[in-house]
This record gives sequence, structure tokens and C-alpha cells, in this order.
Amino acid sequence: MIIGTGSALPSRVLTNRDLEEMVDTSDEWITQRTGIKERRIVGRGESNSQLAVRAARRALEMASVSPAELDLIIVGTLTPDYLMPSVAVLVQKELGASRAGAFDLSATCSGFIYGLSVADQYVRVDPRRKILVIGSEVLSNKVNWGDRTTCVLFGDGAGAVVVTGSREGRGVLSTHLHADGSLWHLLTLKGCGSLYPPCGEELPREEYFIRMQGREVFKNAVRAMETVALEALEKNEVAPEKLALVIPHQANRRIIEALRERLGLPPEKVFVNLHKYGNTSAASIPIALDEAVRQGRLSPGDLVLMVAFGGGFTWASALLRW
Ligand code: ACO
Repeated sequence: MIIGTGSALPSRVLTNRDLEEMVDTSDEWITQRTGIKERRIVGRGESNSQLAVRAARRALEMASVSPAELDLIIVGTLTPDYLMPSVAVLVQKELGASRAGAFDLSATCSGFIYGLSVADQYVRVDPRRKILVIGSEVLSNKVNWGDRTTCVLFGDGAGAVVVTGSREGRGVLSTHLHADGSLWHLLTLKGCGSLYPPCGEELPREEYFIRMQGREVFKNAVRAMETVALEALEKNEVAPEKLALVIPHQANRRIIEALRERLGLPPEKVFVNLHKYGNTSAASIPIALDEAVRQGRLSPGDLVLMVAFGGGFTWASALLRW
């Protein structure tokens, strides 16, 4: 079960009006097509691991767990500080989590649910284990600020949870992970990997940033999120109306609306904060979860459904009894 949540956002706010000064776009277009009004952007020297540590400290504090009690740290991210070492070991060092193993997990926007599913396997084996699962991204350094089709979408931030074994039926009921690598080319960040190293000249400059065929991604996201949400409900024989809250990946308000309509839920049962932060990839669900918890939106015993979709493609869901 999740016994603590935390999140951290950079203080710098970039509004749609600011973007109007940078590229040929408008607040109206961005709001209508995405629902995003503003996003948070790191300052110089502010890193993914720093955000992750801040989110982790808040989650540990809520859980009343000390860093020395942690068995494992998993960070879902596609924007690590360095290719080596991982964000997770930097978090481990900074927290002083002396007993914990640590690794990053690459599953784009589904990274947090993928990480939660790994943590869930560990605590099913030994319910005393305490695992920190983080989703943390600095996407602003991977965005082409001259490309209006992507730069308006993304933001930076981190969210974290502390996971331990289920108690009295409370905890992760099931996780469902999927992928389809045949569609990898629709959403890419090719540069700076081993195939196209940073100083290579074979790759056009724009390939060192996120590139996306938005309309195709949109269609796949709607279909996949619906399917994997229903898969979780069917597996647990839960009717949609029994859900207290759905926490979807925050990519586009129209995708979230399509999911809400498919599940037949009223707006208050689907958590949305993308107007404030944009798409923070692996960080979006744990940031939203932390806000929901701190707003008192969840009570013990509530059923919570998390649903994600991202590059790869990857998609995933997790059903929890809070
Ligand atoms: N401002 C103004 N006009 C724009 C902008 C902009 N920022 N961006 C694109 N346009 C224009 C296009 O050039 C196009 O013009 P044209 O008709 O003259 O060619 C027109 O708007 C429509 O473009 P579309 O791409 O068809 O717009 P769409 O309604 O599909 O919205 C969007 C684009 C918001 C990107 C949408 O497709 C989307 O949200 N896709 C899914 C994103 C997603 O879910 N990502 C999740 C994974 S992210 C990850 O894994 C890291």
C-alpha cells in the first residue's frame, strides 16, 4: 500500500502568453487543443535528481519512514541528469538511504505505473519492505523551443510514493502493463543515445529533441487508455461507478475527457491538474496523486484507478484500494 506521497515543482512558471512571444501559437489554441494554461520549468543548475529528492523527502515525511529504512528506490524517467549514473543512485546518496538498492526505469509516461508494479512484486514477497517509487522529469531541456507542435505541451516536475505491503485489503489490487514497439517512430528523442552520440553529425538538429506525430499519438492514447482502464476493472470485478477517483496521465484534457466518458464518470471523479503543469511524463501521475491526497480527496478503502500512456508506445493501469 502507499503510505506517503510527495511532489516537487520548479518555481519558474511559463504561461501560454509567454509562449506566444516565443513561437507562432496562442493561448486560445493551446487551451482548446490541450487544456494546458501554464507549466513549470527548471532554472539553470536545477536537475531532475534535485526535484526527485524534494518529492521523496515529502513522501517519506508523510509515511514517517526514514531513508535508512528503505529497501529499494525506483525512478521512472526519460530525462536523467546523466546517462550514468542513474537518477535513483543520486537520490539514494542525497537521502542517505544506506540500505537501499536503486535503479531507473525507462517507460516514458508510463514509468511511474511500471515502477509501482515492480515495487508491488517486492512487497508481495515480503510485506515489511519499504520502497520509494518516483516519477521525475526535466523535459524542458529536451524540448525544441522553436517547434510549436511540441514545446507547448511539456513541463518539469517530480512525484514520489512510499510503498509497503498491503494491510487489511488496502494496497495495489493489480497492475497491467503493455507495450507496442512497432509504433516507436511516432514519438521519439533520438539524439544522445548510443546510436547517435551528441557530437555526431548524421542526425539533424531537431532529432536531439522530442518529436511527435501528435494526431497519431492522440488516437493511440485514447484507445489504449480506455482498454487498459477496463482491463483493470474487469480483472477485479469492479464497476466504474465504484471508483472514488481516476488519476490519468496528464497529457491532454481531450484524452482525459474521452476516458471519463468511456467510464461514464462525473468530472469530479477524474483528477485533472494539467492546466498548471502540462505533460510531465512519468511525473504526472504521482504529482496528481500527491495533490489529490493533500486536498483530502481520498479516504481509506477508496478505489483509485491510475492510467498512463506514453512513447514506445507503453501503456499501463493500476487499481488500488486506498
Ligand atoms: N499553436 C498553434 N497551432 C498549432 C500548434 C500550436 N502550438 N501546434 C500545431 N498547430 C497547428 C498545426 O500546424 C496544424 O496546422 P495545419 O492544419 O495548418 O497543418 C493544426 O494546428 C492542427 O494540428 P494537429 O497536430 O492536427 O492538432 P491536434 O488537434 O492533433 O493537437 C496535440 C495536437 C495537442 C499535440 C494532440 O495531437 C495531442 O495531444 N497528442 C497526444 C500527445 C500525447 O498524448 N502524448 C502522450 C505521450 S508524451 C510522452 O510519452 C513523452
